[in-house]
Amino acid sequence: RIPEPCALVIFGVTGDLARKKLLPGIYDLANRGLLPPGFVVVGFARRDWDDAVFEQLAREAAQQHARTPWREEVWARLGGSMRFVGGSFDDDAAFDNLADTLDGLRDSHGINGNAAFYLSIPPPAFPAVLKQLARTGMADNHRAGGWRRVVVEKPFGHDLGSAAELNSLVDEVFGAADVFRIDHYLGKETVQNILALRFSNTLFDPVWNNRYVDSVQLTMAEDVGISTRAGFYDAAGAARDVLQNHLLQLLALVAMEEPTSFDAEEIRTEKLKVLRAAALPDDIATGTVRGQYQQGWVYGQRVPGYLDEPGVPADSTTETYVAVRLGIQNRRWAGVPFYVRTGKRMPRRVTELAVLFKQAPHLPFQPADVRMLGHNQLVIRVQPEEGVALKFGSKVPGTAMEVRDIAMDFQYGEAFTESSPEAYERLVLDVLIGDSTLFPHADEVEQSWRVIDPLEDAWEGTKPEPYRAGEWGPRGADELLAREGRSWRRA
Ligand code: BG6
Repeated sequence: RIPEPCALVIFGVTGDLARKKLLPGIYDLANRGLLPPGFVVVGFARRDWDDAVFEQLAREAAQQHARTPWREEVWARLGGSMRFVGGSFDDDAAFDNLADTLDGLRDSHGINGNAAFYLSIPPPAFPAVLKQLARTGMADNHRAGGWRRVVVEKPFGHDLGSAAELNSLVDEVFGAADVFRIDHYLGKETVQNILALRFSNTLFDPVWNNRYVDSVQLTMAEDVGISTRAGFYDAAGAARDVLQNHLLQLLALVAMEEPTSFDAEEIRTEKLKVLRAAALPDDIATGTVRGQYQQGWVYGQRVPGYLDEPGVPADSTTETYVAVRLGIQNRRWAGVPFYVRTGKRMPRRVTELAVLFKQAPHLPFQPADVRMLGHNQLVIRVQPEEGVALKFGSKVPGTAMEVRDIAMDFQYGEAFTESSPEAYERLVLDVLIGDSTLFPHADEVEQSWRVIDPLEDAWEGTKPEPYRAGEWGPRGADELLAREGRSWRRA
């Protein structure tokens, strides 16, 4: 699938996201032959640059961060289609200039008025940019004579009220069908594979319910701290930063019913039903844990505690770790706990999703012979070593009837020669094609806040539990599962 000729306008093009993900992703798309000949990138930022300076920045970004090999001839075509418009978000003249630039591209590049606007900027700046796009008529499909789309980066608000406000603002300026909300986890290969695994096989579905599943564990562990993002992170915390979006989206994909077709609307409807049925435990205080890292060691390197990170207030009570027990109140999942945890400065980077099955109802072995017979587990490793492992008991070779859990392991790198596109590469392409399957809808975003908001209310005025950097979170997280006779999988 190749998009029609079009322009991609990036607001905040000097930022980290544009440099590390968007511009390299665009190069990768060009390198894979997935961009149309009439494709133009328009950078917008408060800089006194011309097209050549922007092109140089984009080239360096692509050389440094692209996934595919560098090919000068690919850049020669792409680099010649880079435009830059300088100005601030309250500068009418700069936006008039942007509108003229897009008009000019109609003839020079045959884009027929097609353009997507990527808001790679802090959320407080959204209203100003949206207002400008409305004022100049740039958000108007009819007036443009082609399609106009907007891409919004998370966070989508900071609670249900602010998300609803933001949603109605973007939907009003662009029209709901032309708004693409990015949750980059949905662009990851393994995340999409959850649906393939569940719905293209007969093996898993019959046991994918509370008759066979004991519990589900979702882990998103990061080895990094907060880097230079204190301003954003301290006001957000782990629950708002990744639980509300990435992790609840993963949970929805694991728990949803089969859509009648692989269609954006159908998938959204099923995900939404799960989010509506998802709930925190009645007693939030005992069913959730929040932590904050203290100084410690990660990969043998000494790292500072959260309160010593540059820009973090010394008395901050923001959580850098969260573990919650969620329930899904429907027939399939009633009674099955979904334990979800995420943290910064964990011992290593790993995101995985584990379905833990109940133990066999009867074991025909002599208890003395059964040294270790655990639960079957299906583990989907989202990153870094993408793959799927199935754990089951097997006889240990020898004269005794000893049964031990072993793993059958599928690794992407071994099974496929094709390389995975980076999440942003895939999502940018989908925006240009107009396929919204992998983008959360406004309703999903709002439902996710409905799940999370009580957490934030219950935590108000409380302090997070400390954990040492380089450890798997605070003690409370282990106790949360131990109280229910379970323990975290060693991820
Ligand atoms: C972002 C969060 O959405 O996801 C970051 O804001 C986090 O705090 C990042 O580090 C993790 O993404 P990935 O793709 O590296 O797992």
